Amino acid sequence: MIQIPAFKELDRNKEKIIMAKKPLNIGMIGYGFMGRTHSNAYCKVNNFFDLEYKPVLKAACARNAERVQAFADTWGYESIETDWRALVAREDIDAVDICTPNNLHKEIALACAEAGKMILCEKPLSMDAAEGEEMCAAVEAAGVPNIVWYNYRRVPAVTLAKQLIDEGKLGRIFHYRAQFLQDWTISTDLPQGGEALWRLDASVAGSGVTGDLLAHCIDTAIWLNGSIDSVSAMTETFIKERVHQDTGEVMPVTIDDACTFMGRFSNGSLALFESTRYARGHKALYTLEINGEKGSLRWDLHDLHRLEYFDHGDAGTVRGWKSIHVTDGDHPYMSNWWVPGLQIGYEHTFVHQVADFLKSLETGEPAGPTFRDALETQKVCDAVLASANSSSWHNVG
Ligand SMILES: NC(=O)c1ccc[n+]([C@@H]2O[C@H](COP(=O)([O-])OP(=O)(O)OC[C@H]3O[C@@H](n4cnc5c(N)ncnc54)[C@H](O)[C@@H]3O)[C@@H](O)[C@H]2O)c1
Repeated sequence: MIQIPAFKELDRNKEKIIMAKKPLNIGMIGYGFMGRTHSNAYCKVNNFFDLEYKPVLKAACARNAERVQAFADTWGYESIETDWRALVAREDIDAVDICTPNNLHKEIALACAEAGKMILCEKPLSMDAAEGEEMCAAVEAAGVPNIVWYNYRRVPAVTLAKQLIDEGKLGRIFHYRAQFLQDWTISTDLPQGGEALWRLDASVAGSGVTGDLLAHCIDTAIWLNGSIDSVSAMTETFIKERVHQDTGEVMPVTIDDACTFMGRFSNGSLALFESTRYARGHKALYTLEINGEKGSLRWDLHDLHRLEYFDHGDAGTVRGWKSIHVTDGDHPYMSNWWVPGLQIGYEHTFVHQVADFLKSLETGEPAGPTFRDALETQKVCDAVLASANSSSWHNVG
């Protein structure tokens, strides 16, 4: 039978809905893949989360006026800019969302800090840890709220993994392994650099799969299992030369196409990470597994609403891996969505991140990962690349 709330409760709900929200004016820089996921999150967040603040899509910015206007029209941005400096200088912008390629993150973030704007910056934080240090110093001196979009922390199944680990369900951790596999750069005909292909140009991306894909795995790992102290890595660039999309010239390929590393966490557990864009058949296979004394956990992005859990404390006769369908009301974030049993997906991780960021403005408790948190990932990436270059173990900065 459908439960109808009492009249009083209905009145209260109505009051809540008409209560004015505090506007948070967003300036979005970049209209690509992430520009879309974030815009979608700003549009949806107040429909599902009870928050004091409401994002207002004030301005979108990119260099091509016609294209950024089309993006603004699609998502409902009130205005456009074609120079990010003009956007940052606007008094009617409270928070800047940096969705540009990696080589612009630092410059934009420093300008935002100076202008006193809040910053939501895409990952990786920076091209390298030295840039990241500067960015942390700037936002901390300015005292502006800041967050980095390592969104996989906010897949409910991954957040549940964090809860179970923090409750001690796995006991002492022995192993952490993660993979992020793709196959989109195998063709020798694929150009490098320029629009949509900047990830293949290290002068724009910083690195290849290390900063692009492994950075996600490293952020989740540090969040779930603590700091990584030392690493030993190998990288490979399978295709050594490609035509540059912008110049038409054949140029050396400067990124790592694949990277594998092992390492040690501060808690004594061992790390094994692998990433490549040459795993034929895999489009975005992010998997992780953690083995502890009392149990193990396993997660797979292709089945993101499930968390696999082995509890050694179960009676021997029924002991085995269970697949938890992370859709119940008491699972992280899920009470904000539909009814138990109905799953959500990739785009919701960005909604969760916006919700947590807006909540942090209410409570004054920063939502992670802050720039400072993300710097730790950057330091691991630097150590991984240095280790691969020198074929030796490296301590993390
Ligand atoms: N969190 C995630 O899972 C995730 C996924 C993909 C990308 N990313 C990160 O997001 C960022 C953007 O990646 P993307 O996939 O959206 O890239 P994209 O190529 O789809 O979009 C980049 C956007 O930046 C704009 N841009 C480039 N130079 C500019 C300039 N000088 N001024 C203003 N705008 C400029 C482009 O016009 C484009 O709209 C990168 O840092 C990337 O690493 C994160």
